[in-house]
Amino acid sequence: MARILTGIQSTGTPHLGNLLGAIRPAIELAHDDANDSFLFIADLHSLTQVKNGAELRHNTYAVAAAWLAFGLDTSRTVFYRQSDVPEVTELAWYLNCFFPYQRLTLAHSFKDKSARLEDVNGGLFSYPMLMAADILLYDADYVPVGKDQLQHLEMTRDVAARFNHRMGDTFVVPQEMTRTETMLIPGLDGAKMSKSKGNTLNVFDEPSALKKRINREITTDTTPLEDPKDPDSAVVWKLYQAIAGEAKGQAMAEKLRAGGYGWGHAKKDLLETIVDGYATERDEFNRRMADLGGLDAELSKGAAQAREVASSVLDRVRTKIGY
Ligand code: TYM
Repeated sequence: MARILTGIQSTGTPHLGNLLGAIRPAIELAHDDANDSFLFIADLHSLTQVKNGAELRHNTYAVAAAWLAFGLDTSRTVFYRQSDVPEVTELAWYLNCFFPYQRLTLAHSFKDKSARLEDVNGGLFSYPMLMAADILLYDADYVPVGKDQLQHLEMTRDVAARFNHRMGDTFVVPQEMTRTETMLIPGLDGAKMSKSKGNTLNVFDEPSALKKRINREITTDTTPLEDPKDPDSAVVWKLYQAIAGEAKGQAMAEKLRAGGYGWGHAKKDLLETIVDGYATERDEFNRRMADLGGLDAELSKGAAQAREVASSVLDRVRTKIGY
């Protein structure tokens, strides 16, 4: 049995990058009988950015509803809110004491923002150790993530190995899992899709909102309709291929290369793929968001299961440290 674990921050409603890069692959792995799985909402990490309680709560529900809308079966998975398992903050402290300060200064999540240090809080700096604690607290073997999280996984492996070396075998050293096709979904402007860049696609949006975003925000060149076009440099094609899959993606690429098929046609096909392809998930998301009590019940059930494992691993760590 391999243990799968991954988390999503509650900084907003999960976007297409989160869904294709993490949620969908994690659910597939979770539903494989060879695995057991821990999937959670990283609402403590979100506090580094979101300081409004109502917003944080709303986002946490939206992330929970997204997991469930994409088919997560909570009878086969431990599904919980990070803040419901306070053991994780204790472990994060221990890990902080076993990891060099210098290495933390090299984390992209911190370095990208360190030019404006006045905007950086201490939580953002030690963020990778809270993430390492999320993973090590549950003896996870595999962590499905997008490419942007690989450095954090490397730090997790590093701190686990340092601790094991110094204090004796304590932690399972986890492996990251990425899928080449979906590890880096581009945003509407071509850069990595990311909430902080404002370039996201929210598949749960109403079709009219999606249409506006796709038509207005996706950049295309000015090649005339009848001329051949290069799919490889086009965000609209990359997004279509990521959602519709290789075969349909190649079919659109051929139409673009042949000419007589314009960017407007490609945008229309992309919109249809999202609106129709995720219709069931959109309805289910809205249904879940209209029943917050139901979401709370799912998450409390998961928290109790998570705490059982967390407290036993934490005991192991405390003993090793000497408490
Ligand atoms: P977060 O919340 O930014 O993103 C959640 C997951 O979505 C993936 N992702 C993407 N994948 C492909 N293309 C994109 N454009 C894209 N944008 C985001 C991320 O790689 C991630 O897998 N620190 C983490 C949350 C976290 C976590 C953990 C993850 C906290 N503790 C423990 C795994 C294990 C984060 O901020 O992800």
